[in-house]
Amino acid sequence: MRTACIYFCWLAVACGDLALANESQSAGKTVRCRSGAVVCVSEPAASAGLQTLKGGGNAVDAAVATAFALAVTHPAAGNIGGGGYMLVLPKEADPVVFDFREVAPAAATKDMFVDAAGRTPHRRVGVPGTVRGLAMARERFGRLSWRDLVSPAITLARDGFLLDAETARSLSDVLADSDATRFAELHRVFRQVDGKRWRPGDRLVQPDLARTLERIADQGADAFYDGETADQIAAEMKRGGGLITKQDLRGYQAIKRQPLRGTYRGYEIIAVPPSSSGGTTLIEALNILENFPLPPGGWSTTSAHLTIEATRRAYRDRARYLGDPQASTIPEKLITKQYAKELALKIDPHRATPSRELTGDIPLAEGEHTTHLSVIDADRNAVSMTYTLENSYGSRVVVPGAGFLLNDEMNDFNWQPGVTDSTGRIGTEANLVRPGRRMLSSMCPTIVARDGKPVLITGSPGGRTIINTVLCVIVSTIDFQMDVRQAVDAPRLHHGWLPDIVRLEPALAEQRDILQGLRALGHTVVSGSRQGDAHSIGVDLDSGEITAAADTRIHGSAAGY
Ligand code: DON
Repeated sequence: MRTACIYFCWLAVACGDLALANESQSAGKTVRCRSGAVVCVSEPAASAGLQTLKGGGNAVDAAVATAFALAVTHPAAGNIGGGGYMLVLPKEADPVVFDFREVAPAAATKDMFVDAAGRTPHRRVGVPGTVRGLAMARERFGRLSWRDLVSPAITLARDGFLLDAETARSLSDVLADSDATRFAELHRVFRQVDGKRWRPGDRLVQPDLARTLERIADQGADAFYDGETADQIAAEMKRGGGLITKQDLRGYQAIKRQPLRGTYRGYEIIAVPPSSSGGTTLIEALNILENFPLPPGGWSTTSAHLTIEATRRAYRDRARYLGDPQASTIPEKLITKQYAKELALKIDPHRATPSRELTGDIPLAEGEHTTHLSVIDADRNAVSMTYTLENSYGSRVVVPGAGFLLNDEMNDFNWQPGVTDSTGRIGTEANLVRPGRRMLSSMCPTIVARDGKPVLITGSPGGRTIINTVLCVIVSTIDFQMDVRQAVDAPRLHHGWLPDIVRLEPALAEQRDILQGLRALGHTVVSGSRQGDAHSIGVDLDSGEITAAADTRIHGSAAGY
């Protein structure tokens, strides 16, 4: 019965008709509602999540259905060939993180990327984690059947869906930019029938992917790691000189972890632990910032300066200490208030600290796309999930006959042991390539809570800028006293220790007093492009109202009821 309901509602979406299905449901860039909501980069995927909620699923069910749907409708980053993190704050229970980050294959070595010749697309692929992670989350928390959650994605892949302008542009660009012989399967799977550029409203049909998803729906995650799909991946690795074997796939395990917990001006910050650097760096930076008042109303020179100085120090520790916790020891002090106070005391309110002064014992030498979704359900279970292929379209290697892209997540290891330099290359020990280990991520799915209840669910793509995007959304909400719509729209900034450069989003760089004020303090400031894509949900604990705010920097869609 539930399957039938989800499937029926789903058909309307798959046919490209996402107008309001009925009066008690709405979709758009900002949705205000009371029962539940899903927000992510893609309209059909948000709708898949919403129909899952309405069909009796909880926030975890909806997140899993949305993630599978994104693997079809947002091929640049949505995936089954990549990895990520799902943070769950269940109603009245402890929060949990599902870490389904990719791992290095058994044949990987610490200096495999030192020579440029070793950096081939196939060798950049990490053992994918997404399918195991989604299965683990559903097994622990899900209410609906596994098939219920994969079905919307199967329909979208088999029958196709209508491209929005951004996806049409992005697909056309990646094809134009990828050699048709070297990336033959990418072209076969994603090219427009007439070989021209995709246009908004064109239908993308993915029959190979539909068959792969069908097998996953039938046989569970093992169909990916130990069946025909595993054979297809291993064969493609062999053909292209990649390292992943069937044994690597069979051995992949998602890990259930305890989230990191911090506080910021009385709010609880619940965030993702290592193997991502996201939560540690975010909490460290917020702890430092807490030592200074940041007045409401938005960015000023002083609040921007203090934020830059806080993130400069937190990112320096990220470079120094963070990596797979199974391969390196991460000092607990990094997220303590005492340590933050010591760092805060060394911030000069009238001068930028050159990043080189913070180098310490790191030997310093003279080097689109992830996607985030937020979900809340009627019981106020909350999910914050970010997953990725690393670069836009990952390695651009599509598994022949299987219809999905493989990641290039091996990029996130430190490639050159010992080489940390002013361009931002990091060569510290903690994140060197090690077989079977997770490469350090910056993904930062986060939930801000009060008395254990979610008030803000957020996260973002953007590589190393991710943590600062999340920090900006939190500062805009808590310090600048903006609602979630304003906080998502508010301009963002980034400083990641090295390179020693502040990047301001154009809307912030246009504020000449701030730009000039920061330069006068000694910062090197550039006007960057857009930063992140933070699809977020705010909850008003007094009124019970949910506001789902799609980030409109790329496309974005919120759906709620
Ligand atoms: O895990 C990480 O931190 C990166 N692989 C994320 C890459 C990313 O966000 C690219 N997107 N914009």
